[in-house]
Formats: sequence, structure tokens, C-alpha cells
Amino acid sequence: MNTILIGAQFGDEGKGKIIDVMMENNDVVVRFQGGNNAGHTVEVGTEKFVLHLIPSGILRPGRKCVIGNGVVVDPVALVKEIKGLHERGIRTEGKLLLSETAHVVLPYHSRLDEARENHRGAGKIGTTKRGIGPTYGDKAARTGLRLIDLAQPKVFSKKLKARIEENNAILKSLGGEPLDYATVNKAYLEAGKFLAPYITNSVIWLHDQIKRKKRVLFEGAQGTFLDIDFGTYPFVTSSNTTAGGAVTGSGVPPHKMDRVIGVIKAYTTRVGEGPLPSQSQELGDLLHGMGREYGATTGRERRCGWFDAVATHYSAMINGIDELAVTNLDGLDTLKKIKVCVAYKLDGKTIKFPPNDIDMLARCEPVFRTFAGWQTPTSDVRKFSKLPVNAQKYLKAIADLTGAKLRIISVGAQREQTFMV
Ligand code: GDP
Ligand code: IMO
Ligand code: MG
Repeated sequence: MNTILIGAQFGDEGKGKIIDVMMENNDVVVRFQGGNNAGHTVEVGTEKFVLHLIPSGILRPGRKCVIGNGVVVDPVALVKEIKGLHERGIRTEGKLLLSETAHVVLPYHSRLDEARENHRGAGKIGTTKRGIGPTYGDKAARTGLRLIDLAQPKVFSKKLKARIEENNAILKSLGGEPLDYATVNKAYLEAGKFLAPYITNSVIWLHDQIKRKKRVLFEGAQGTFLDIDFGTYPFVTSSNTTAGGAVTGSGVPPHKMDRVIGVIKAYTTRVGEGPLPSQSQELGDLLHGMGREYGATTGRERRCGWFDAVATHYSAMINGIDELAVTNLDGLDTLKKIKVCVAYKLDGKTIKFPPNDIDMLARCEPVFRTFAGWQTPTSDVRKFSKLPVNAQKYLKAIADLTGAKLRIISVGAQREQTFMV
């Protein structure tokens, strides 16, 4: 059984936690897109880990973790992440594989990311400034450097020199700070040396695992509405965050994928700019007041909204979601009434699908259906039938409206605070 797991909303749905839970019954976990713009939180006992590039299965002994070809890798950040895990007693040797065709994030990418954001002014995207967009831009323009280059110091240094010259000119024109070739070269060769034992042809390795009936889990980053094709363009990230990305970002063909799990929060959050039709100040104040919904990568406050079934229904279509993992149900525990967005009103007309035009989406007003809350703590519940009846009704309703089966429910950040339906 090979499973694709994706975020069905705007990112931060709790993918990291669900991956960690599911890795109890899987052998291999593969990141297939994005980079260290991701922040996937896994809490085990008193320990909290935030993973940015390393798949969220790394905490499970004996499991293998792959960073696939579709990911963009900042080698210096990755070395830091690996060393951070080593310091906490988590080993990576023999467990972690890096695709040699994954593209490398360079310091000019993050500087360009920042310079372009500054230029956009009020129209900024609110990126993580990790250089993700410019790196994918270079990949598409065929001017990128890959891990296979980094593993060959002479090749890398030569290519880097030419790239730095060109990008320094662009940086200067945008008012950004130019880079010193020797400094970057030294830092990257050092990181390359550290990473060399992990760099391999992950396509061949993965196909061999599948032949041997190993169970592979594909770990999506970001979420459906941040997808470069299907998201709220231009307020998106620069990769395919949807299920198709698992195929192109790993080299495992579509017919080897057995199911798609969509992770959703029991409400909606979004960090960065861009429309959020079901946004609610009241819900945001409640969740922030509980110390929740601050970004795992940038620490920024996430905007909050009611569950948006128009969005998740569309998401279920695009991703082919078979099963849902619903997280953060406990975030709604204290509410007397809970709203769900079931349609949008656009210029007086009721619509059931999100419009692709960003200005139209921004004009959409949510049409809400109101559910009775349960006003009972759910964090200690471990069985669907033990949930308050109103919580059961709410979960069934959001799954029905989305058009997928309820499968996993999460009522807390801890591994144990999870159950199957
Ligand atoms: P990801 O990027 O999709 O992996 O999600 P993040 O880790 O960025 O954000 C999800 C946040 O919710 C993290 O702080 C998790 O520890 C937390 N979390 C996940 N599931 C639950 C849950 O069911 N209840 C609570 N209270 N927190 C949760
Ligand atoms: P995980 O995997 C939530 C958002 C940024 C910004 C937009 C583009 O933890 O769910 P980028 O740096 O990618 O060019 O920024 O995408 N963004 C995320 N939002 N969760 C994430 O990852 C995100 N990664 C990027 O805030 O709006
Ligand atoms: Mg996150």
C-alpha cells in the first residue's frame, strides 16, 4: 500500500503529526516538493521537533526517509537540521537519502526572494524568504544547480562562479546585497562534503523498495491552495503541492499509488498574504488566545477562519482524496456555535467552486451553515463513538461536504492523541 498524504487547505494542517503517526505502519517516507519553507511539527512525549526538509518519519527507528527530486534543498540549512537531530539523539546515517537531481537553494535565491518581496510592497506574497520561488524559477529556466553538482566539488565551483556573477547583477538592480563567490563556495563545499554520503539515485532505490513490497508514504508540504497551478495564484508557493506532485517529485508512477489522504484542520488557517474567504476575527482571537496558530517556520501569526467546505470539496477533486485526516478538533471544544462555509456569494450569485481570478475570490462572501458546539474537552478521547455527539455530527458533516471518507481524527499534538474511524 503506497499512500500520498497532502494538505487539503492552505498548509499547516498537521501533516507532520499525521505522517509520524502513520509511520508506525509504513517503511519509507518521501518528501516530493517544497523545501525548508515547510515546518512540520511532531510531538513525542515531552519532546517537540519541527522538521523543515527532513521527512517526518525520521523519529521512527528503522524507517527510511527520502528527499525526492522535486524538493529544493538548501544544503547549509539541511546540515544544520541533521546536526540538530544528532544532538537530540536521532540518527540519520543509513536512514536518509537525498535525490541527486534535487535542485540546490543558493544564497542568491533567498536574497532575490527578499528583494522581490520588498519591491512588491503592499502587493507582497508574504513568502518565507527561504529562496523557494527563485530556486524553482532557475529550475524551470534551466539555470539551476543540483545535488549531483554539489557532490562534485570542481563541477560545482565552476558552475557556481558563473551563476553568482549573473545573480549579483540582478541583485544589484533590485537593491539587494551582492554575494562573495569565495565565501559561498566554501560554505557550500563544506555542506556538500557532509551530505555526500546521503546523495544517491533515489528513483532506482525507491523502485527497488516498491518491488520488495515496502510501504511508501509520500509527505506533501504546504497545501492545495498554495499549489502553483491550483492555488490562489499569485499568492502561492512555487511547486505542485497537490497529489500529482508526488509522482513527478519522486519518479514513482501514478499506478503505484494506492490512495490519497487529505489532511484538514477542523477549521482553516493561512499564513502569508492572499484571500481567505471564511476568515473570522472571533475564531482567530480565540485560537491565538490559547497560544495556538503561530507559524512553525517563521513564527508569524496565522490568520484563522471557519472550515471552508467550498475549498476542501475542490481540493478533494484535484487530489482525488479518498480519506481524510482531521486535526485540531480540540481547537473548537469551547465554542457554543460553529460555522462552516458551504457556498460563496459572488456579486449576488451563489457559487459552489472557488473562482480562479484572485480579485473575484477576494470578493467572495462566505455562506455559512451553523452547527451546535459540544463544549466538552475532546483531548482525552480515543474512539469516535466516545466523542460528544455534536462533535461526531460536525465531523461527519465536514467529511460529507468535502466528499471523502473520515479516517483519522486528531485531538491533540501528541502521537497518542489520535484515533482511526
Ligand atoms: P504541518 O505543516 O501541516 O505539519 O503543520 P504544522 O506543524 O505547521 O502546524 C500544525 C500545528 O498543530 C502544530 O503545532 C502541531 O503540533 C499542532 N497539532 C497537530 N494536530 C493537532 C491536534 O489535533 N490538536 C492540537 N491541539 N494541536 C495539533
Ligand atoms: P507547511 O509544509 C503554510 C506560504 C507562505 C507564503 C506562500 C509562498 O508547513 O504546511 P514561499 O516561501 O513558499 O515562496 O511562500 O506560501 N507557505 C506556507 N504556509 N505552511 C507551509 O508549509 C508553507 N510554505 C509556504 O507563507 O504565503
Ligand atoms: Mg507547517
